[in-house]
Amino acid sequence: VQLTAQSFAASSAAFERREMSESTRIWVKTSALDKAVYGKVRSIAQRSIPGSAIDDAGDNDTVNWGWARGNLVKDDDKGGSANVRVFIQDEDSAHDRKTVDLPADSFTEGNIVVGNTYGDGEDSDDEDDYGRPGFTPGLQYPDDLITLTHLHEPAVVHCLRRRYQYDKIYTSTGPILLALNPFKHCSSIYSESMMKKYWDRGEKSMLHSASASSSEEKKSDEHMLEEAELPPHVYSIADNTFRLMISKLEESNSMVRSAGRGAATAMQGFDQSILVSGESGAGKTVTTKFIMQYLANLSQRSSDSKKRNVGGGRNGKTIERRGSITKTVNIEQQVLKSNPILESFGNARTIRNDNSSRFGKFIEIQFTNTGSLVGASIETYLLEKVRLITQTEGERNYHIFYELLQGMEEDQLDNYFISDYTAEDFNMTNKSGTYDRRDGVDDCETYQDLLEAMDTMGFAPEEQKDILAITCAVLHSSNLTFNSLSADESEIDRENPHLEPVLSLMGFTAENLNRALCYFSIVAGKEKHTRSLPKQKAEKGTEALIKATYGALFTYLVQRINASITLKDEKSQRGSRGSSGKTKAATIGVLDIFGFESFKVNSFEQLCINYCNEALQQQFNLFVLKKEQEEYEREGIQWSFISFPENQDVLDLIDKKGSGILNILDDQCRAPGTTDKTFANDIYQKCTGHTRFEANFRQVGARQFGVHHYAGTVEYDTEGFVEKNRDELPKEATELLLSSTNEFVKKLANI
Ligand SMILES: Nc1ncnc2c1ncn2[C@@H]1O[C@H](COP(=O)(O)OP(=O)(O)O)[C@@H](O)[C@H]1O
Ligand SMILES: [Mg+2]
Repeated sequence: VQLTAQSFAASSAAFERREMSESTRIWVKTSALDKAVYGKVRSIAQRSIPGSAIDDAGDNDTVNWGWARGNLVKDDDKGGSANVRVFIQDEDSAHDRKTVDLPADSFTEGNIVVGNTYGDGEDSDDEDDYGRPGFTPGLQYPDDLITLTHLHEPAVVHCLRRRYQYDKIYTSTGPILLALNPFKHCSSIYSESMMKKYWDRGEKSMLHSASASSSEEKKSDEHMLEEAELPPHVYSIADNTFRLMISKLEESNSMVRSAGRGAATAMQGFDQSILVSGESGAGKTVTTKFIMQYLANLSQRSSDSKKRNVGGGRNGKTIERRGSITKTVNIEQQVLKSNPILESFGNARTIRNDNSSRFGKFIEIQFTNTGSLVGASIETYLLEKVRLITQTEGERNYHIFYELLQGMEEDQLDNYFISDYTAEDFNMTNKSGTYDRRDGVDDCETYQDLLEAMDTMGFAPEEQKDILAITCAVLHSSNLTFNSLSADESEIDRENPHLEPVLSLMGFTAENLNRALCYFSIVAGKEKHTRSLPKQKAEKGTEALIKATYGALFTYLVQRINASITLKDEKSQRGSRGSSGKTKAATIGVLDIFGFESFKVNSFEQLCINYCNEALQQQFNLFVLKKEQEEYEREGIQWSFISFPENQDVLDLIDKKGSGILNILDDQCRAPGTTDKTFANDIYQKCTGHTRFEANFRQVGARQFGVHHYAGTVEYDTEGFVEKNRDELPKEATELLLSSTNEFVKKLANI
């Protein structure tokens, strides 16, 4: 969109000026207005970069978002000056109702762009219109931004804002769907009947394209159907993806029939993927869930309609439920139930989002060649383990801790030694002063959802107890204390009431735990020396143990979920019409990953996240440009791009072999005696001069560096980079876990 805006502004400026009259609606850059009126740009016009919203949590409702609406004042009224005279009519602007003269090059500079007219010629959406007969709110703002006559930044933002006012949270821009978080329940747009509408349309379009003979005809038919009444929706994206996969599979099936198996195995590209991207709190995870729900629903519908559901359910599994009532669940339900489990253990309340995923997730949904959902596999990335130890004010630790403290049945509490405690009693949960959720979600209820999800997933009751026991052991561990014996010697405080629960739940002896936390051993030659540790180090060791244990538990849960829901890939059978219709033929992958982050202090995690987003951005650029190019070729338009956002250089700065920041870090971590300081010096030496790298005097002094990302500059602090990249558990801790008498703990130690 940006590139279209620029190229549009530059190339057609001359034309516009000729065509304009006094009624020409325009958008003017606030910075240009400020400059003309005050002689300088006011800082209020500065826009925040994604992720930095934490700092400007103030009233952003009527923000000066960079553009103001107005009209062009007719040439003759200006008395022959070379300036462009505009009249601002925009309540959100500080220049409202003012006539301003702007430099003549304002068009070519892109400071003035032409506004769109909507509907019957007026950009009229004022409240007065509500009473007007036949007025449909928001109707004049198109479903697809591409249909706007003038497509540029203010047009896009204005259109989206207006649509948002009318609860039209979805807007297309070509093949991409823009979703705005409504922050309220919009039950009507996510109902079963809504899903059915999109499903029916998808079915019809498949029938059409199957019956259309030539591919040209197919295309226009598809186009026609896509244009049909249904507004843009995440269901539409999910449906299109599914149909695309199916049509490719069918194509290959027909090739098998006509040309034998060889032809079809050569065919690739059945698999589809949907990328959900946005900053924290934008609605990625919710959107991902809607996609999963739709695909699960679609699969069930199509299997019902094909009447293949014989004998207790196509994919029916009998599971034992709480109170040993048995119930049949199908794979679709199981796949959906992975969410409550992952959310309890991997989501937390943050300043921006009360249910913020603190890990990235790629879920691959598996289908047979007839479109039945047969499984899914989940991969997770980068669980934020520091959250276990420290939480910013206004944030919480992982939901599970509050959920079980709130929601566990009375008679269970004693088993985990938590009957006397609340979240206010544990160091892990009481430091940020935040205990609740603002989004109206009740911890007791989510705890019940978790138990139900674990049942559905087929977690045995014993296994569930093990999981809860470890979680409670982690809570108790955060309260362990140490006595200082001398400046470099300490011992675990045996009077601490939390010690016994830790030992009991983890299957440790007090001696083993004490040895693991208060001592360390070094091997010199063939001899092993054991040294004592000061209290402070023992406390650090406890933190490392907590992170390792919880991290392993999370990994275990993901593996365990996959064991329940993933249909094992038999490569040789891929695409075959094999046994019982349960062969995986293709997948739809959905990526829900941290958006771009930029905080006051940015560390290794932010670099990894932003690196990932750079890579996705590049993928996105290529995809959009490729699509655009195809479109132009199809329409026989001569084209050349003036510029496009290229970010390969940022990727090089971060990951290039030999000179990339992450490579330098890896090299440093392999070398002995490395510290964050040696790492910082190494990058200053190797990266300075790179156009995307910044290390000024102040930054070098503070061992920081800046990276000019596609979404803005982020300043990273090298403190902790080396330790975080190594992510090593001291071998004492590993030995401790392995020494456990608890089989489940041993299992975690081996993860
Ligand atoms: N489509 C939607 N409808 C209603 N509420 C939504 C929607 N999308 C997001 N939300 C609200 O916003 C919150 C944050 O969304 P989430 O998907 O967790 O953000 P992200 O994963 O991008 O950080 C959700 O907990 C929910 O309250
Ligand atoms: Mg999320």
